[in-house]
Amino acid sequence: MSHVSSKVTPWEARRQRPAKGKSGSKLAHESAEKHVLGTATYIDDMPEQAGTLFAAVGKSTIAHGKILSLDLTAVCNAPGVVDVITLDDIPGEKDIGPVFKGDPIFADGVVEFHGQALFAVLAESFEQAKRAVLLAQVSYEEHPALLTIKEALQQNAFVRPAHSMQKGDAASAITAAPIQMSGELYVKGQEHFYLEGQISYALPAEDGGIKLYCSSQHPTEVQKLVSEVLDLPINHVQVEVRRMGGGFGGKETQAAQWGCIASVFARRQNRPVKMRLDRQDDMVLTGKRHDFYNRYQLGIDENGKILGADIELAGFCGYSPDLSDAIVDRAMFHVDNAYDLNNARVIGHRCKTNTVSNTAYRGFGGPQGMIFAEAMLDDIARKVGKDPLDVRKANFYRDGGSTHYGQPVEDFFLPELVEQLEQDCDYRARRAAITEFNRTNRWKKRGLALTPVRFGISFTIQFLNQAGALVHIYTDGSIHLNHGGTEMGQGLFTKVAQVVAHEFDLDIDMIQASATATDKVPNTSPTAASSGSDLNGKAAQNACQILKSRLVQFAQQHYQVNAGDVRFINNHVVIGADENSAQWISFADFVTLAYQNRVSLSTTGYYATPKIHYNRDTASGRPFFYFAFGACCAEVEIDTLTGEYKVLRADILHDVGRSLNPAIDIGQIEGGFIQGMGWLTTEELLWDDKGRLQSNSAATYKIPTSVDIPAHFNVQLFDRANAEDTIYNSKAVGEPPFMHGIAVWCALRDAVASVADYTISPPLDTPATPERVLNAVMFCQQESKA
Ligand code: MTE
Ligand code: HPA
Ligand code: MOS
Repeated sequence: MSHVSSKVTPWEARRQRPAKGKSGSKLAHESAEKHVLGTATYIDDMPEQAGTLFAAVGKSTIAHGKILSLDLTAVCNAPGVVDVITLDDIPGEKDIGPVFKGDPIFADGVVEFHGQALFAVLAESFEQAKRAVLLAQVSYEEHPALLTIKEALQQNAFVRPAHSMQKGDAASAITAAPIQMSGELYVKGQEHFYLEGQISYALPAEDGGIKLYCSSQHPTEVQKLVSEVLDLPINHVQVEVRRMGGGFGGKETQAAQWGCIASVFARRQNRPVKMRLDRQDDMVLTGKRHDFYNRYQLGIDENGKILGADIELAGFCGYSPDLSDAIVDRAMFHVDNAYDLNNARVIGHRCKTNTVSNTAYRGFGGPQGMIFAEAMLDDIARKVGKDPLDVRKANFYRDGGSTHYGQPVEDFFLPELVEQLEQDCDYRARRAAITEFNRTNRWKKRGLALTPVRFGISFTIQFLNQAGALVHIYTDGSIHLNHGGTEMGQGLFTKVAQVVAHEFDLDIDMIQASATATDKVPNTSPTAASSGSDLNGKAAQNACQILKSRLVQFAQQHYQVNAGDVRFINNHVVIGADENSAQWISFADFVTLAYQNRVSLSTTGYYATPKIHYNRDTASGRPFFYFAFGACCAEVEIDTLTGEYKVLRADILHDVGRSLNPAIDIGQIEGGFIQGMGWLTTEELLWDDKGRLQSNSAATYKIPTSVDIPAHFNVQLFDRANAEDTIYNSKAVGEPPFMHGIAVWCALRDAVASVADYTISPPLDTPATPERVLNAVMFCQQESKA
């Protein structure tokens, strides 16, 4: 069904027009039709092999404590149960911590969070496995559980040591400043809520090896962990990922556990094993975006210019390090957003709590830092009585400046972009209209905010900034493309295929992207940090360049022409200096000829990002190859009697460099904004005082729906080529637009501030649910009476 054949446009027709779908085309996502028709194959859609068994995990019922006994007799005797494993049954490495140790595959004597996996069951059906795990008899010695950042800070409970960054002398600058101020903000985390939950399907392979289908952003890491857990060489394990039904960071490290458990069972039973988390298990067993508790002290002048900032960030890491070191670092890197703090000290804490280990989520800590910059700027604006946009502009970086981690500020055209959006969306006139609206309406109040985004592109761990690709040309001219990046809906496969089409000037239908596979391109980085198209696009381009130079060299000899007289145009290879007398050979005929003349038509390609370096000991360097910019203006209306609100309008102007695919980029921007808005408005994670996750289903956790899309929603691309040498001078787009959601939160706060005639900056922790908005309104009413 999903196999569309007959892509047989004759070569003659392909010659008469420009090649279709090259870089810059508004091409639909490579699987768009299959997504819509329901024919795109996800792991749970794959035909199950005969003998497939199903796994489920047994979970702890306390948040913290020692396991005194674990009696699995009834579990083993339950209908359909084939096998049961605990930590003792893991043949190799028992700890699957991705960067640092600390993630035992099953609880290791001690339970560290409510719902932690204690054991796993394998049964003839999914239902039988799910029923059996409930029969375990477990006794615990319960210990007090740390459940909040504040408790962890008080008790110095950290998963990793604190880290700090510094520029100038913040303390003296703050003391010497005309105005001092301080504030804090609690920012809650976020559930990934990918449509496809975590899933793995393990098949026993040759010589005790494993072939694993896994919904993972990081097949190489899953491969490595499976090999360690099974005590096998890495070359005995193959991991394949055709697509994910969303990852959003939640499948960067946390797909591995389920892949490992499935593989252990597959090996023990020599049968195929599927491990799928149902929605509730997925929500309980996997980490989320980190909550952050942020505090600042600022020294400013009368115009609202920041002279010094002392900032303390504290991330809610859960029980183990996972990626939290890098996530809190990224929050620290982004706490300046677009603003020159002049003198700054930024410290980041990694709080340990008895909750699930939090992990990557679109923006990777950046949003939790960046929203704090915007909170500070709004607080400053209220303090000095100016329009927040003017205060923002007054504090923008200038080229030639430097960040609090020593990265020079270059090609900083954000002020220009903000200026354009301000004009395009009519900010000033709407501000005046809103002021009038708020003066004449007693209960309904409107708010407006225009906030910028400046997001650093590169993995902050330098070695991850590399990629490989594999390109085969077949004798009919069709091309098989493989690279290290994974497809999670973001359109990476489409974009990299466009790069290949572009290099050979071929129609896109000549390029077939194939599943990411560890045996095709090895030692890959996760598809994360928005770097997928930057890294894999360049690697694929490198492979194409190698093939092209072989083909050109062959043509030179074969036709006795100069290299410059061999060109790839409109699906053809053109031989000869003069286009009229030149010989046009279809790409298919040409590569067949090359093959017959024994030219290799297959190669790998490779790319490593230049220029980046960062010394964490001195907290200085250039961690980011470049920055992506954007700005969003949001308008909201609140009901001061109930706290309910609507987003009336959102305008976004966003910088993707020279777009590889404007259709996909706009989709990423729209989706990112809505997801960011959901994070800050309706999505609320809740744990009870026993550490049990209360927001554990679609009924108790509210993600945005189509009706939450602003009635007026304009997204434009800011058309300017990346000054750095990225693939066709494009810019990464995956994560940066997420942070446009911050404009909605600032607009809500603006509407609330109107209640006190903009003289105070209302406290509004996130998510800004109607309850919190109402509390903030009442706070303003109290304060303005006092
Ligand atoms: N878009 C879709 N549709 N689904 C996803 O899971 N993940 C986001 C972003 N956009 C995601 C998405 C995240 S967290 C990242 S890091 C990037 O895509 C990863 O892909 P890229 O590097 O190819 O942009
Ligand atoms: N972003 C996303 N994922 C990562 C990063 C990063 O900076 N570093 C390690 N994994
Ligand atoms: Mo994205 S959080 O870097 O997977």
